[in-house]
Amino acid sequence: MKSRALLLLSLHILSRTTGEPINKKFPENFIFGTATAAYQVEGGWQDDGKGENIWDYFTHTYPDRIANGENGDVACDSYHKYLEDVDLLKNLGANFYRFSFSWARILPTGKADQVNQAGVDYYKNLISALKSNGIEPFVTLYHWDLPKPLEDIGGWLNETLVEYFADYARLSFTLFGDDVKNWMTFNEADQFCQVGYGYGAFPPGIRQDGIDDYLCGHTVLKAHAKAYHIYDEEFRATQNGRVSMVVDTEWYEPASDSDQDKEAADRKLQFTFGWFANAIYHPDGNYPQVMIDRIADRSQKEGFSKSRLPEFTPEEVDYIKGTFDFFSLNTYSTNLAEWSDDYAIGNPGWDADTSVTTYQDGSWNSSASSWLKVVPWGMRKLLNWINENYDHPEIVITENGFSDHGELDDQGRINYYTEYLSAILQAILEDGVNVTGYTAWGLLDNFQWLNGYTEKFGIYQVNFDDPDRPRTPKASTEFLKKVIATKCLVDVCED
Ligand code: BGC
Repeated sequence: MKSRALLLLSLHILSRTTGEPINKKFPENFIFGTATAAYQVEGGWQDDGKGENIWDYFTHTYPDRIANGENGDVACDSYHKYLEDVDLLKNLGANFYRFSFSWARILPTGKADQVNQAGVDYYKNLISALKSNGIEPFVTLYHWDLPKPLEDIGGWLNETLVEYFADYARLSFTLFGDDVKNWMTFNEADQFCQVGYGYGAFPPGIRQDGIDDYLCGHTVLKAHAKAYHIYDEEFRATQNGRVSMVVDTEWYEPASDSDQDKEAADRKLQFTFGWFANAIYHPDGNYPQVMIDRIADRSQKEGFSKSRLPEFTPEEVDYIKGTFDFFSLNTYSTNLAEWSDDYAIGNPGWDADTSVTTYQDGSWNSSASSWLKVVPWGMRKLLNWINENYDHPEIVITENGFSDHGELDDQGRINYYTEYLSAILQAILEDGVNVTGYTAWGLLDNFQWLNGYTEKFGIYQVNFDDPDRPRTPKASTEFLKKVIATKCLVDVCED
């Protein structure tokens, strides 16, 4: 699209994505679901032969790095209460449930020579309970909880993990692929690569900013592609499912009308989202050119003999390109992006390579998470940007949601869902973006990584003070239930 047309579309979007919810229906085949991830809800951290993973190790070794020294040892106890979870999903009328496998529950050492039958049975039982209630399982193979023995050999910095991940993926397709038709290889690789290996705040806690984060990403992209090709070659013909990789970003809006800020906003999107999305989803494949050029240039000025961003061979670019059957997108909020000259050469890092300052507008509605402001027009713009830049893919929103402090009358969450779903509906009906599914994060209040249990994202409340972890529906449960049943955000929709 020409830039003038884009500008007009932007203004149109900005002016329309406010106010009353849209009174038109979601398309007939649009699906709604909700999500969790293994470490955040399962608990049972050493039950029935499960191996240790990096989050078990990290929370136990460095409790001071997690709010209130909390961990996922018990979490929502979904390892024992999964049938109750399925009842909650049934009550909601969910079309699908996105959850992740704990790699170390299936393969305690991470390697395929030791399979933990109890772990396999757990997921078999969960999947069968979902299917018998008409709920499609959407499975993420990796939502951040690497088996500890694989971190001990270097984690995602060691390319051997491509093979270990491929073995785990193949085993999962073999064991569960008759029932699971929607697979996501990785969840938000930018988060676990950058925060885990660059900033060092997530496990494994390595601080090699601008070096190890890129190495991690390189391995992950190869591992994803290998798993996709395994599915394609060995399983697709008989199982007929779909494979994708979840990429996340916030929308970055230029802080001003200046060309520099526009360029900065685009660059931030490329460094956050394009880092993973480009190689898989873009018709050209590979890393975004702006990443390749900037990192090479800065690396050279810093005295490195080659770029800190590893290179793909042309064969690898081709091997990774197009390894998706739908586009999986996680997104929650929006930031303003400003050009910055503050990042002097000499201190390598992802932020310095990007050289963009971001902040949020003080007038935007807040949540319980510092980074999450309610900016529904950002959702619509992001969907349009993906549609334009990635050749009109089918998009499934695999996470979107709002945090508060756990109140049952969660009007803030209802407001967030109403406004974000309205923005999505406009993207579909008015802009022609092919969004086919929406996943509310999350089903339950759960372990929020470094923030422990201080921020609540669930549509069902969990009482973490009670050893039985009782679940209670919030007002948003009823709200979403009605949306799912009617495919409509208001009392009565136009036909
Ligand atoms: C992650 C979830 C997390 C959510 C809210 C996403 O980045 O995939 O695991 O709970 O954000 O913080």
